[in-house]
Amino acid sequence: MDQYTGQDIAVDMNPGNNGKASTSFIGSLPVDSVQALAATLATSDHIPTRYIRPEAESEPVIIPCEAEDDIPVIDFHKLFDPELSEAESSKLHLACQNWGFFQLINHGVPKEVIQKMMFVIEEFFKLPLDEKMLLKQRPGQLEGYGQWFVFSEEQQLDWADILVYHTWPLHLRKIGLWPTNPSTFRDALDEYSMEVKKLANCLLGFMAKNLGLDPAEMARMLENGAQSMRINCYPPCPEDNKVLGLSSHSDASILTLVLQVNDVPGLQIRRNDKWFLVKPHPGAFVANIGDVLEIISNGKYKSIEHRAVTNTEKERFSVAAFHGPNTNATVGPHPELVLKDEPFYRSLDYESYMKLFFSSKLDGKSFLGRMKLNK
Ligand code: OGA
Ligand code: NI
Repeated sequence: MDQYTGQDIAVDMNPGNNGKASTSFIGSLPVDSVQALAATLATSDHIPTRYIRPEAESEPVIIPCEAEDDIPVIDFHKLFDPELSEAESSKLHLACQNWGFFQLINHGVPKEVIQKMMFVIEEFFKLPLDEKMLLKQRPGQLEGYGQWFVFSEEQQLDWADILVYHTWPLHLRKIGLWPTNPSTFRDALDEYSMEVKKLANCLLGFMAKNLGLDPAEMARMLENGAQSMRINCYPPCPEDNKVLGLSSHSDASILTLVLQVNDVPGLQIRRNDKWFLVKPHPGAFVANIGDVLEIISNGKYKSIEHRAVTNTEKERFSVAAFHGPNTNATVGPHPELVLKDEPFYRSLDYESYMKLFFSSKLDGKSFLGRMKLNK
């Protein structure tokens, strides 16, 4: 893993801004719609070279048939059952330590809320391109229709279009930028965001307890904690083994909850240097530990590299809800977890941390490597 050797990340990345990050993070260069490109490609056509990703083909993927190849399943409901809570909570702790990924069932987010969200996503991406382009990301902004992490005209591109919004805290919502077609989009995103935020906070309370931290302190850290939604649309690709839907990365969140909108698999996680396909459990969320929790827990929980692939036939949709700490928080190992162990990561204010994240190309866990202290 890369080791960061610079002096001071916060100052380095913000020349001329007194070392303080601004609230709008660096945006991405505009790119063409992949959905529009995919619609015009015939099977015999070659994929434009900017999308060709040799790594997609060169690394074998394990399709889980045995339980030990499959990410753990956590039953959220059981965490509240006086008789089952302790066992389920230990299972959660092990999943966070050993996998960094799990599927969450019986999560209590109403079916109607999920179905409404799925409906508006599918309808939005069916709109003609010029209508979607009305919502395209403005220069320097991350919200809207477009792509993230593109910084040069030469950079290889992901086979996907995205639609992204900040959804929490409420005062950071720019609802005027949210789609109005389909007409239920704003309502659907609002309800979904509230439910998922509640779920993430609650789950993180159990995780804090498992780490020996005070759940009330965690709750305070999340009260005004950032939530953003990245809606991914992965169009089919005639040469699906030559492209990647989403480059390998770990999330810069505390906790991410991913909804697989249609039952098309595509998410892969890296474990013991091999890629494993995640088979979506119907109705479940795929939960994963993000870099911020790896740092807070001083490495007790690990964020795991993952990526998304496409297929030749079907479009795939997913929604990743990223949850972070309060915008004025400091990202660093929790003081109680470095009483006995030395800190393995540096500390940085959250805004600077996120600005740094959005100014680096997606490249596995190399970003987190820059937060590691040289030992
Ligand atoms: C993400 C992500 C996975 C998926 O958006 O960060 O990892 O299945 N998505 O689309
Ligand atoms: Ni991710």
